[in-house]
Amino acid sequence: MSHGFDLAERLRTREDRDLRRHLEVAERVAGRTRLAADPKAQAAEFDEEAVIFASNNYLGLADDSRVQRAAELGARTVGTGAGASRLVTGDTSLHRALERDLADCKGTERALVFSSGYAANVGTIDALDPDVVFSDELNHASIIDGCRVSGAETVVYDHCDVADLRAAMDRRSPAADEQWLVVTDSVFSMDGDVAPVSALCDLTERYGAWLMVDEAHATGLFADGGGIVQRAGESDRVEIQLGTLSKTLASQGGYVAGDEALVEYLLNAARSFVFSTGLAPPSAAAAREALRIARETDRADRLWDRVERLRSGVEEMGYEVLGETHILPVLVGDRDDALALDQGLREYGIVVPAIRPPTVPEGTARLRVAPMATHTDADIRQCLDAFRAAGEEVGLL
Ligand SMILES: Cc1ncc(COP(=O)(O)O)c(C=O)c1O
Repeated sequence: MSHGFDLAERLRTREDRDLRRHLEVAERVAGRTRLAADPKAQAAEFDEEAVIFASNNYLGLADDSRVQRAAELGARTVGTGAGASRLVTGDTSLHRALERDLADCKGTERALVFSSGYAANVGTIDALDPDVVFSDELNHASIIDGCRVSGAETVVYDHCDVADLRAAMDRRSPAADEQWLVVTDSVFSMDGDVAPVSALCDLTERYGAWLMVDEAHATGLFADGGGIVQRAGESDRVEIQLGTLSKTLASQGGYVAGDEALVEYLLNAARSFVFSTGLAPPSAAAAREALRIARETDRADRLWDRVERLRSGVEEMGYEVLGETHILPVLVGDRDDALALDQGLREYGIVVPAIRPPTVPEGTARLRVAPMATHTDADIRQCLDAFRAAGEEVGLL
């Protein structure tokens, strides 16, 4: 009898169910890079350079020299690692400077940075310890895990459907002292659509509940470097704004923005904050510089220009593109067709991942095109030409 773990068998099961994932190594984080198939324990052997339309480095700041210099300076002046939890000796001037800037951008009293967006979501929901969480059905896994860890009763409402949420809240008539949390992504990463933030504010106000908005994919791209909450002018009505430093802000880490009591409470009670080493100072410095660039330059306009050209170009060919943001999910439908299109694009030097069930509903397999502000005219043309050629080869056009 064995009490060990048969991981090879578990991997085979995943393989059989088409759920086995594989790593691919990128030489650098940029609009163009060379990639290598998973070398396992060996050194990577890179293929030809490809254009990446699959990164959340939306403003292309991960290899921006200003951001690189800020990280370097952070490492030299403060340290490469925080060395301890923020509550011990890991709280530095760089963390505080970033938090002031995030709070200013989000229109809140305070902000608190975590070591990742995942940690921010899990730690925040767990620490709030709500009686009931109302959660959009397409919310990110870190929100789902936060609900699980908190042990709260979780009511999942239909995607972006305010009427369904309202009906769910009506059905779940509260005991007098219950505490309710409504939580939603702002920009949904696989659909590129946007939560109805103002309508959600109306509803949470009506029920005396709190609203938490995860701006992971929106931070830095909308009004003055803010997210959808700022675009909607609702900074004062959303109790908890949350996001990541790892996408547009080209770094690593997560943040929560809200009032003084929220931040003071979380730094005491969020276990992923208390029991984890503070964010690495170079990451804080890089995110701060990226936020400055997002707010003070026309980088975001350049992204929207590329988004518009790609969306209209792909639509003119006859593809259906979902959503209304910088994330362009090109609907294919059949999972095998989506994989074939993904492979076909690669033959033309374009990397766009196929997103298949169970990540998205059956029959809605898609290619998630993520343009970057730094993509050149030639990159955009190459992407459009590839969509036409590969689409015809696969029989989609
Ligand atoms: C909506 C959303 N929330 C949270 C996260 C987690 O952020 P991080 O990558 O910083 O852990 C992500 C993406 O990774 C995300 O898409």
